[in-house]
This record gives sequence, C-alpha cells and structure tokens, in this order.
Amino acid sequence: MTLYRPISRRHVLRTGAAFTAISALSPVRTAMAGPIQDPFVMRAASGRAALRPAPYGPTDVWSYNGSVPGPEIRVRQGDRIRILARNGLDEDTTIHWHGIRTPNAMDGVPFLTQDPIPVGGDFLYEFDALDAGTFWYHPHQRSVEQVGRGLYGPLIVDEADPIRVDRDLTWMLDDWRMTRDGQISADFGNRRDAMHGGRIGNSVTINGQIPERIAVRSGERIRLRLVNAANARIFGLDFGDLVPVVVALDGQPVTPHAPDSGIVVIGPAMRVDLVIDMTGKPGDVITVIDAFYEGLEYRLVDLAYGPDRLRDSVPDWSMDLPPNPLADPDMTSPARHRIVFNGGMMGQTMMGGGMGSMMDQMREGNMWFINGKAATGQMMDPLLVLPQGTSQVFEMNNRTAWHHPIHFHGHSFRVIARNGQPTRYREWQDTVLMAPEERVEIAFVADNPGDWMFHCHILEHQAAGMMGVIRVDPRATKT
Ligand code: C2O
Ligand code: CU
Repeated sequence: MTLYRPISRRHVLRTGAAFTAISALSPVRTAMAGPIQDPFVMRAASGRAALRPAPYGPTDVWSYNGSVPGPEIRVRQGDRIRILARNGLDEDTTIHWHGIRTPNAMDGVPFLTQDPIPVGGDFLYEFDALDAGTFWYHPHQRSVEQVGRGLYGPLIVDEADPIRVDRDLTWMLDDWRMTRDGQISADFGNRRDAMHGGRIGNSVTINGQIPERIAVRSGERIRLRLVNAANARIFGLDFGDLVPVVVALDGQPVTPHAPDSGIVVIGPAMRVDLVIDMTGKPGDVITVIDAFYEGLEYRLVDLAYGPDRLRDSVPDWSMDLPPNPLADPDMTSPARHRIVFNGGMMGQTMMGGGMGSMMDQMREGNMWFINGKAATGQMMDPLLVLPQGTSQVFEMNNRTAWHHPIHFHGHSFRVIARNGQPTRYREWQDTVLMAPEERVEIAFVADNPGDWMFHCHILEHQAAGMMGVIRVDPRATKT
C-alpha cells in the first residue's frame, strides 16, 4: 500500500514559486512524515486548525493526526488498506469508509458491525480497495458532533490507468457554524436543526481553509474531486465561464456529461469528479459561486490565472474512466420494495395507518421516519432482508418538504428513474439526493453479506430517526 501526499512537496514548491496565490489554499494537508508505516496510524483527538485566514487565530477542532481534513489516504485499485484507528478523544468513536465496499466487519458502524473504539483504544481496519474513485472517511459514532467538529478525510483510489490531466485536485468542502470569536458553535443536536434542513453553518471551507483564490494556468486540464463533508449543506457550484464535465459520481465512473443547467449539485457525503479545462487567458479571474439555496448565493473562491499559458487549445484526451467491477442488476424480474420517507417540519403527508405511531415517536424526539419507523440507535431489526446475490429495486418516495441525501452502506446502486422517468446515465451512486416530494428508483445486486446502514446523510436527520438497517442474508433463499 502506498500512502502519499496528494501533491508532493516538490510539486508544491515548483508551482508555488511561479504562483504565490497557491499558498492561499494548500492541498489537503497530511500529518505524515518520513516513510509510510503499515498499518497507517490515524489518531482522532482534539486539536486546533487555522480554518480562518490570518490575522484570525486558530479554531478548536477534533481531527485525525492533527489536521482538518485528516490525512489523504491514497492507494491504487486492488491495494490492501490497513489503518490502525486510535481513539484520543474523550468519547467512543469508529471510522466508516464512506462508499468503499468493505466486508461488513470493517464498515465502522458502532454496535452494528463492531464495538465502538473506547477512549484510549484502537481498532485495525483492513480491506481491499475494489473500486477506483473518490471516497472519504468519517466516524459513525455521534456523527453530528464528531464530523461537525472536523473528523473526516479523503480516501482516493487511483485507477491502474488514470485519465490524463495536468493536475488532480481534491476539494473537501465543509460548512461550519462558527461563533463570533471563531470557535465552533456548541449547539450540536438541537431540535430546530433536526426538524429543518440540518445544521447549516456560516463558514464554508475547502480542505479546511476559508479559501480566497486558487492559482490556475491557462490551458491546463484539472481533475477536480469534490467531496461534501458538511453535516447538512448542499452545494450547487457555478464555475462561471468554465465548462465542467462530470466524469464520476460517488467514485463511480459515469458517461462524461455537462451538469444539468451548468450547476454541479453535491449533497452531503456525495462526491463529484469533474474534468475542467482552464479556457481563460492569463490574468483572468473566475469566481466560483455556490448557488444552491436561492437568494443565498455566495462567492466560494476565485480561480486566478497565472501569467503563462500551458497550451492554446483544449486537449482531446479521453475523459472516460475505466468501469469498476460492480455487479449489474438483472432488470428482468428484480425484487421490488417501497421505501417511504416522512417527517420534519411542513411535511405534506403522513402515511394513513402509521400516523398515530409516528405521532407517538415524535413525542419521544424522533422527527424522521422510514416506512413509518424512526431509528433510535444503530442496532435495530432490519427494515428489509435481501437474499444475497439477488437483484433489487427500491422505489423510494420522499414525502417531506426537505432534500435528503440517502446513503446505503456496502453497495453502490444505479439510479434508474426519477419521478417515473428513466435517468439518462443510470449512474452508480452510494448516496442519492432526493428533492422534496421526489420519487427515485435505485437498482443493485445485494452481493455484500451483512447488516448495512441505510440512512439520510444530513447527520441531524439521521440522528433524529432517518435511518434503518438492511440485511443482505447469505442464508435466505431466493424467491
Ligand atoms: Cu458517510 Cu453511514 O455514512
Ligand atoms: Cu434527511
């Protein structure tokens, strides 16, 4: 296994000499020094991070190996990943490898797949990187606060034969709720956030820093890996005159295409890989705007062209990523299941028979329901039991007034229809963003045995009940 800096120090110095603006946004910082040890040790602990630019002081955070985001784990497809997680926090924790198809015991869900890692304890995570792509990691224990205070990092699996680009960048987006004195607001888990859109903050960072400008070169081609690590904020990035091409979603290759209406939408936990050709001229500045919430648009960052030109025309290099070894669902007679999401403020519909029971559950502080049931912990009876090896379709119905990024562990699924209309690309995802009142159909082969979480990745929704367990059972008989 190789673990290395996303951009080598030499590379940083080389570009840094030509473009001082690069220093305004360092690459994902890693705490690694010297030769890489196997297993790689990742310690979660409280620390400080310079989220805000000088002259502001640092912010108290929780982080892996002292940096936000945590170290970039970067391996080649097929490599074995071995990570020793150490708990230096004052409470239990785990690490979940989001979007990676691990064996169930490595999935990092407390109680469901492992005992939580106690204070001062450790746990060895070990699994193969089956799929190439952009993934990430975060705790699955009290995620609202642990992720919300900065525990997360990127996990990049390189293709054996990657597409050609000039630079491969990762932007981990996060959204923090900061107080006036630059500290993280401690109001985690409050009822208001849980009933509405989750903990929306007031300070957006890229790779742990509030960004100013990022240096680019005229003519260069960038692969930009976007990861949304925010508890609740959905981003809708507008790259102005640039024409981003979506080449992968949640790590999985997709037919290269322009995003709908030019805006790159990315819900919590989702990843989008873009290929962007820097078609402007030396000296130009492109402002990247987050335009997701109407009336609340803001400038995310400026892309500043340096004085030289790398090339004059757009290269004709292929943008097609090699497919990952995912089992394609057999659509001739898949098993079908209906999954209905209810709850929250201003919800339109409660299910007829389940109404009374949902009211009772709400009195106990649960506000979101999957098929009429709110989860109260991560151990529960399965919502569904799927025989291993079977093709499955979930017909999901969002009967709420809110967006929900719905995530399924241990599998990637194809998004096959939205509101009854087949999708153009049948894209593979592990987290699908559902708009209010939207119906989405997904299809997959239940090929990874075990009990898997199925939940909304707005962490406050998950904590307030929007979670279930789906069992892939190697013993169940196919019907
Ligand atoms: Cu990002 Cu249940 O996880
Ligand atoms: Cu939700």
